[in-house]
This record gives sequence, structure tokens and C-alpha cells, in this order.
Amino acid sequence: MTGDTAADIVWHHATVTRARRQAQNGHRGAVLWFTGLSASGKSTLAHAAEEALHGLGCRTFVLDGDNVRHGLNADLGFSPSERDENLRRVGEVAKLFLEAGVIVLTAFISPLRAQRERVRCLVPHGDFLEIHCDTPLPVCEARDPKGLYRRARAGEIPEFTGISAPYEAPLSPELTLKPGECSIAECVGEVMALLRARGVVAG
Ligand code: ADX
Repeated sequence: MTGDTAADIVWHHATVTRARRQAQNGHRGAVLWFTGLSASGKSTLAHAAEEALHGLGCRTFVLDGDNVRHGLNADLGFSPSERDENLRRVGEVAKLFLEAGVIVLTAFISPLRAQRERVRCLVPHGDFLEIHCDTPLPVCEARDPKGLYRRARAGEIPEFTGISAPYEAPLSPELTLKPGECSIAECVGEVMALLRARGVVAG
């Protein structure tokens, strides 16, 4: 840094506020935080839910772990501190989308409860909806779409979530989905019911 610190920077307040954007959009903003093991169905369900919301005319955006790690977070790996930073940045980006009045759907393993709680605390109460994609490890491992579990078992990928790094399941998520047992349409139906119950979209 060349002199100035955050303490020297004054927040500039927008006149086009979140409330005005939401009024224009016709729905509230929200953060739908999909968490679960690799290959648990997070991205598939986030995109399918986005399709349903887009079909209703809602403003949406998906932040996907695999994509964000190619751009904004291309400098980060999978050590505990790098995952922390990955999720800190994603939380801040999600907060910006929320300010824009958008329904943002995120698909990150986000393995630790503390990482998810930090994002929950970052946004206004009630705007963070934690959705657990509760697919058992053996099912994820059998799917193994990218061959990563096989490589992790062979010791080729260190600190792989579920194999050699922890995953802490949510204790009280807003929603638990069972993508290993239910269809995508059924899971999306549950997401939409949650959003109606929380007043994000009209009932
Ligand atoms: S997180 O732990 O920081 O939330 P994120 O969701 O961004 O992870 O990225 C996970 C994706 O990166 C997985 O779906 C998988 O494709 C890939 N990946 C590569 N290395 C690892 C690893 N060591 N652990 C988990 N996923 C990994």
C-alpha cells in the first residue's frame, strides 16, 4: 500500500438504494448459499434454481466455486487459510450482489461452519439462506465427474474435502436437500417454497 489505509477512505452512499432496486425488480435480494461436498450437486441445483427464478422474471446470478477460482480467486489453493480467503471474498461479492437487489446463488464447498457463519453475519439478518446439499460421500465419490476423488484417494491431491480435509455439515441450515435421493425438479421445488416462505419472491 502506498500511504492510505481503509481508515482514510470514506464510504460514499448511493442514492439508488437496495430498497429502490428491489422495488424496481419486484422481489427482494437474498443470498442462497449452497454448501456440500464436491460432486454433491451444488452447482447443478444452483443453476436449476436460477432457471426457475429467471423464468419468474427475477434478477439472479450464480457464483460458482469452479468458475470463481479461474478468475477472481485464481491465486488461491485449498489450504485452510486459502479456503478462508476464497470464501471471504465470495461473501463480500455476494454482499455486493445483495446491495444490487439480486438473488445470488453461491455454490462452494465452504467446508467449515465458521466460514459460512462469517458470511451469514456479513449480510442483514434473514438474507443469508444456507442450503445443505446433503449427498453422502460414497455417492459423491461414485459420481466423481472430474476424477478428483480417485486422485485424492491415490494421494495425488492433498487436503481433499471429505477424504483428507474436513467437511462440517450445517447444524441448522434453512434447507437440507437430498440430491442423491430426490430429483432436480423436487429439489428446486423446495428452494422455491423456501423463497416464498421467506418473502423473497411473491407467494
Ligand atoms: S472451498 O472449499 O474453498 O469452498 P470451492 O467450492 O471453491 O472449495 O472449490 C471446490 C472445487 O475445487 C471442487 O468441486 C473440486 O472440483 C476442486 N478441488 C480441487 N482441489 C480440491 C481440494 N483439495 N478439495 C476440494 N475440492 C478441490
